[in-house]
Amino acid sequence: MPSPLPDGLGFRVLATDGAARRGRLLTAHGTVETPAFMPVGTAATVKAMMPETVAATGAEILLANTYHLMLRPGAEAVAALGGLHRMMDWPRPILTDSGGFQVMSLGDLCRIDPDGVTFKSHLDGSTHRLTPVRAIDIQHKLDATISMVFDECTPFPAEHEVAAASMRRSMDWAARCREAFVPRPGYGLFGIVQGGVYPDLRAESAARLIDIGFEGYAIGGLAVGEGQAAMFETLSATVPHLPTDRPRYLMGVGKPEDLLGAVARGVDMFDCVLPTRSGRTAQAFTRRGPLNLRNARHKADPRPLDEACGCPACRRFSRAYLHHLIRAGEILGLMLLTTHNVTLYQDLMADLRQAIAEGRLKAELEAWRNGLARGDV
Ligand code: GUN
Ligand code: ZN
Repeated sequence: MPSPLPDGLGFRVLATDGAARRGRLLTAHGTVETPAFMPVGTAATVKAMMPETVAATGAEILLANTYHLMLRPGAEAVAALGGLHRMMDWPRPILTDSGGFQVMSLGDLCRIDPDGVTFKSHLDGSTHRLTPVRAIDIQHKLDATISMVFDECTPFPAEHEVAAASMRRSMDWAARCREAFVPRPGYGLFGIVQGGVYPDLRAESAARLIDIGFEGYAIGGLAVGEGQAAMFETLSATVPHLPTDRPRYLMGVGKPEDLLGAVARGVDMFDCVLPTRSGRTAQAFTRRGPLNLRNARHKADPRPLDEACGCPACRRFSRAYLHHLIRAGEILGLMLLTTHNVTLYQDLMADLRQAIAEGRLKAELEAWRNGLARGDV
């Protein structure tokens, strides 16, 4: 029985297997089965894919970016077109990142102070400012199903003292975001745990966020160069401090192997540009590891990219044809590889959801890891 939509977002844990959870997120724009992978639609499009093709991969929620959309076409322009869902014809849930992470990747073009960030647009050099209140206001105008607090992604490496100061500023901003956020049924605001690779700072950050209270809890500041082992250690030190009855979202992660390890540690949601961006640089993810379709060894190969994949690229076309499309610079090549990669990520999450529900996650993780490590021989 679907439970009634509570104020804010609903979340049910349907089954657990070790630390891993099989859950369901209930939103104003429909349900999301978790663990879930969110394809990235930075500029209100999953690049090279029609919305119905994205939905056909099994994706139920997308990520879009406050930073890019505030600059072009502008939050007011999106609002005038009925919000993100209507504008891009994606009626399902959309999570928007707050802009903090994207602005701070601008390097020289950005200056941080205790109240926010002043930055120059990467498009035309014009000056803009983002604060906690402004970031939430923009996400309201975009009509994001899930908004993210405005935070600072602490760079890696950072000394304990530096990571602590950065985290505490983000927690102060998180409280300002909570105040600015206008609650509506089926919509929610997620806090973001920071603290670098330091367990004491991660615990302090989680406690501060729980004290403020959010509809979900993200883990930020990872996959920034610390490596998979340190990322997994930090996850293991963070997740136990988060509420069990709220969704957990690991931001900006990752490769298929990263998703396996993070789901096993209790993460429910992910986003990453890898499947879409790699698709546009001729890299295909398969159950036997990655392939570069530019490589001459695919020139006469009649096999599909991945025998076990049901996507259009695999059901209808050969590796040789995909290789030809890529070599010829044909747009269809990028479209097909992107569709395949997003499908592979969705299939991976669906396999993990089923395995958790059936209490056999360990065997499923082994099967995926063995396949990914075996290579395409
Ligand atoms: N995307 C990847 N990491 C982060 C992070 O730490 N903060 C935000 N806002 N977005 C991210
Ligand atoms: Zn495929």
